[in-house]
Amino acid sequence: MKQTQAIKDEDYKVAMGRLLVMYTQVDYLIMRVVAERIADAPDDDSRLFMAKQVGDESNHVRIQQQWLEKFGTDTSPVFNELQQHMFLAHFRSLNWLDFLTDMYVCVEALGSEAVEQVVPMADPGTRDSLKTPLQDELDHVAFGLNRLQAELAKLPVEESRAYLETVEARLDFLDDTLHGLGIDVPAMFAAVGADYQKVVTTVMHRRQQIIDSLALQLAA
Ligand SMILES: [Fe+2]
Ligand SMILES: [Fe+2]
Repeated sequence: MKQTQAIKDEDYKVAMGRLLVMYTQVDYLIMRVVAERIADAPDDDSRLFMAKQVGDESNHVRIQQQWLEKFGTDTSPVFNELQQHMFLAHFRSLNWLDFLTDMYVCVEALGSEAVEQVVPMADPGTRDSLKTPLQDELDHVAFGLNRLQAELAKLPVEESRAYLETVEARLDFLDDTLHGLGIDVPAMFAAVGADYQKVVTTVMHRRQQIIDSLALQLAA
């Protein structure tokens, strides 16, 4: 069986272990910034949802940590202290609209799209560990896109259109930042058997789809 062979492959195991640590670290950081944001979310619906999300992310961190322990690879952080601090500082500095874009379009929607691409290559245990987290992320993305839509609808049409035009630049910036961290993400994807170019194409496609759908709803 392909999966059984895959988990025996040492390169696969090391790379998957690093990807799982990365995902766990991101979930942990999301948990922290979303928890802080509850205080100044603009309405009760958002506050209630974000409190649920914080619980979800905490659960994801636990699930992944427990799986990583069984998986038996290096659990040391992929993102160092400074990088974690930069993540927190970035999200703390944003206004509500930018927070929605960076957190829910970039990190939640595009991040989980990338993780989804790895699932078919994953061994059964890893795949199982990702089930609940990826299911919950759908919920988080739906909330974020919905709130982003609502915020854009509040703005004068010209302003919301202008904002949408900046979204791509925001996403490019975050993407460049990730690539500038010195973490060889393409190599990790390749080692777990994912075609990195295909992953990029899929993520970019999803990104365009989100931007198009936001634009379409503005025009409606
Ligand atoms: Fe999560
Ligand atoms: Fe999430």
